[in-house]
Amino acid sequence: MSENSQFINLLDLNDHPVSWWNKLLELGHIIKKYPQNYAKACEGKIMGTLFYEPSTRTQMSFQTAMLRLGGTIIGFDNPATSSVAKGENIKDTTKIVSGYADIMVMRHPVEGSVKAAALTAECPVINAGDGGHLHPTQTLTDLFTLKEEKGTLENLTIGFCGDLKNGRTVHSLIKAMSCYKGSRFVLISTKELKIPNYIRDMLTASGIPFKEVTSLDDAIENLDVLYMTRIQRERFGSEEEYNAQKGCYILDREKMKKAREDMIVLHPLPRVDEIAVEVDSDKRAMYFEQAKYGMYIRMALILTILRGDGEAPRLIKGRERRHFTCSNPACITHREKYLPHLFEGSGDILICEYCDNRTLI
Ligand code: CP
Repeated sequence: MSENSQFINLLDLNDHPVSWWNKLLELGHIIKKYPQNYAKACEGKIMGTLFYEPSTRTQMSFQTAMLRLGGTIIGFDNPATSSVAKGENIKDTTKIVSGYADIMVMRHPVEGSVKAAALTAECPVINAGDGGHLHPTQTLTDLFTLKEEKGTLENLTIGFCGDLKNGRTVHSLIKAMSCYKGSRFVLISTKELKIPNYIRDMLTASGIPFKEVTSLDDAIENLDVLYMTRIQRERFGSEEEYNAQKGCYILDREKMKKAREDMIVLHPLPRVDEIAVEVDSDKRAMYFEQAKYGMYIRMALILTILRGDGEAPRLIKGRERRHFTCSNPACITHREKYLPHLFEGSGDILICEYCDNRTLI
């Protein structure tokens, strides 16, 4: 394990400067316009995709992105058909696959798991979603969609609606859009599904305007973008808790009547019932385009990382604290016991380097 990986990993978008994101968005735009120019750009390269959790868009858009760049793919989309089913830990699986592949993409249900993988990987690692924590390539997809459809990433009022507690795409996009001038957020959720404290603290500390409301009807008319999210059944402690939340927010034709003509509706998908099918034919519904844009921006990302364009971010920013444990029960350090307990910060609050959870000491 090295403090400074030589690889350009993508674990958290905020590990990279905004100038790097902007270059990706520019390259994505060019690839979208002239895909044929990139058909052999990754010839001879292999991408490993390790999907420990179900996925349609992220997995397939990464795979098609690599294939459209002329590369090839290996991997699994069901850990039950790999040696994970025999009890192999993340460290060993990662070490092996990263010895076969030139770049590795991983999704895992536990927070901080992809960072854990990057600690021992022998190739660049991309986070394709780690539990309720982050989903940086969905964020790139969202930024790319906003840039392509709104023409700018500045001065946008974005409403996030639904499961803001467990929606990792929401957390990542709020963090990312906070880096662009003039962003304003309207956070629409029930009191049970509000954004985590660390996001609220970050917005407050940065002086970024935001409000937390419960009514989509009241909020919709002032938005440039409405980002709908699914209530994440798989992250609830019980069916009862999920049932109390499901169906709280449903975007339908009636609600869309109140929205501006130039508002766009995004959704990372999959949806359950939070956007009525009747909205799909509205020209402001952009979620299917958004999924396709994900392929172009992932082509730009793979190419950029394999070319080594950019600085390799520091892998470990703080230090190991052997006798201190992350207070987040969903953190990977509680599952994979060999992992060093890495924390940033000092004084009263320590920030877990895997899951970003803040623990008071
Ligand atoms: N948006 C997204 O991550 O979709 P999948 O779960 O299908 O990959």
